[in-house]
Amino acid sequence: MSQRGIAGSGGALFSDPGQDGLMHRAFLRGGGASAEEVRRTPVIGIANSASDLNPCNAGLRRLVQEVKRGVREAGGLPLEFPTISISEPFTRPTSLYLRNLMSMDVEEMISVSPIDGVVLLGGCDKTVPAQLMGAVSAGKPAVMVVAGPRPVSCHRGNSSITVDDAWPFCDRRRVGEIDDAEWLEFEGNLNADVGTCNVLGTASTMAAIAEVLGFALPGSAFAESTSLERREIAYRTGIAAVAAVERDVSPRELVTPGSLENAFRAVTALGGSTNSVIHLEAIAGRAGHRIGIDRFEEWSRTTPYLANVRPGGAHTLPELEAAGGVPATLGRFPELLHLTERTALGTSWQTELAGRPAPPEDILASAAAPRAPRGALRMLRGNLAPGGAVLKAAGVGDPGLFTHRGRVVVFDGLDDLNARIDDPDLNVDAQSILVLRGLGPVGAPGMPEVGHIPIPAKLHRQGVTEMVRISDARMSGTSTGIVALHVSPEAAVGGPLAYLRDGDEVFLDAESGRLEHCVDPEEFAARTPFRPATAPLRGFARLHHAHVLQAEDGCDFDFLRDPSIPGAPSAEEPSAHFQEATRNVSE
Ligand code: FES
Repeated sequence: MSQRGIAGSGGALFSDPGQDGLMHRAFLRGGGASAEEVRRTPVIGIANSASDLNPCNAGLRRLVQEVKRGVREAGGLPLEFPTISISEPFTRPTSLYLRNLMSMDVEEMISVSPIDGVVLLGGCDKTVPAQLMGAVSAGKPAVMVVAGPRPVSCHRGNSSITVDDAWPFCDRRRVGEIDDAEWLEFEGNLNADVGTCNVLGTASTMAAIAEVLGFALPGSAFAESTSLERREIAYRTGIAAVAAVERDVSPRELVTPGSLENAFRAVTALGGSTNSVIHLEAIAGRAGHRIGIDRFEEWSRTTPYLANVRPGGAHTLPELEAAGGVPATLGRFPELLHLTERTALGTSWQTELAGRPAPPEDILASAAAPRAPRGALRMLRGNLAPGGAVLKAAGVGDPGLFTHRGRVVVFDGLDDLNARIDDPDLNVDAQSILVLRGLGPVGAPGMPEVGHIPIPAKLHRQGVTEMVRISDARMSGTSTGIVALHVSPEAAVGGPLAYLRDGDEVFLDAESGRLEHCVDPEEFAARTPFRPATAPLRGFARLHHAHVLQAEDGCDFDFLRDPSIPGAPSAEEPSAHFQEATRNVSE
């Protein structure tokens, strides 16, 4: 190979008349491609995150064939390539720990490969933001197909079992209400097929974001994983990929202040996952934008909460899909949107929303009679969370606890929580506030989804189903509850959470967005904080520890954000290698 301009040449290397073209075509011919096929343009890469270690994405193995069919029918040459794939249930401590690594894999593969554009095949929670972040940084035209939610299933006469049913089921097992036979039976009943979590959890929320930002086709977010509709979407996305290359629209042009606002308004109207705040900030950062807690709060406060869909409501995801999905949601509040922003088809949202029938009120309420006048995600700030925190108001059992003052019971990490939460002697009552710390971006590492602290068994037996909880961790998008999450700065880097002690009084007001301790400031500052995280000695863990940002900066690595963002490394900085070499010379 000549090594001539590979990074910038894209698929043109296959039609190069010289040595590069000959060698590129010859390698594909060796794999069975015809002389005509290897001369097709554009060349469309397909980043496939199917993996046995990620069952949510297993359906992508079938969908990729449909994508290829669409690319070929539009005249292009599809070339599939694997990337790492991160599964929320199978990755410890959490898949967020590897999200930035996956984004680097995706970015580099898109950048260095002889392709003109890419189709991203993702699904499980972190795979979608990782792919979007990588694609934005790589800069070639990109479209996306998500795996789609798995079908709703049945258990003992209940024919609408979804993944969020697992949490109360496990709580009942903890207190002895579920016997071994039903425990085994439920294991086989919970997931009826491959696909992502079948409620408005993180995967579905991120699918909606991909659609609103203009990467996934309009109306594609919620089609079931194994449906004919999902296969049709994959096929049409293959065609759309070729068109996206012809339009030459970079992902950065799609991620604009207007499209980010549209995306978050959709999330908070749907009652989507708290994780969206982290991922949307990270995606924005790759395109040179910063959203910030205050703007998230303003968008949420001025968007009505509309979706009566699980886990925050009564209806299932297929019912939301049948009601019109994301376009129907956006169609409920067009006056709040930037309607000139683009869809994955190159059309405007104005065009896509025109003439759509209104969805049923009981599934998607109208803006005139919403489920709540403000969106489902609340941002918090105060002396306990100077960098911010987030709380999901959808599906909360006892809204009276939205404003609550109580004494804290503090758990230092998961081992401490597991050892004491069900201890009959735990000094806790229904008015207590449970705090779990040491599990933020640096501390865990990667902010595992454990912030949804279980109700202590002795209170559960008394019928307590809701308590105020606070953590620097995240929680699953399939969970609900009055949980102040993503508290920043986290305890492991010395945030205020590190100084709390059992019995301290804390005040939460989700309406005004306050999260405060009521300890005398001088006494508080004089305390010895919770132990800081120590730096790992090698490998990715060391890279993560040194460079991961706090939740309000999307937990991205500082050096992956767009250089225009304040705090990103400067391009003029001499490399560490250069500094080391010159130091050696001068010595
Ligand atoms: Fe993969 Fe929920 S665990 S989407």
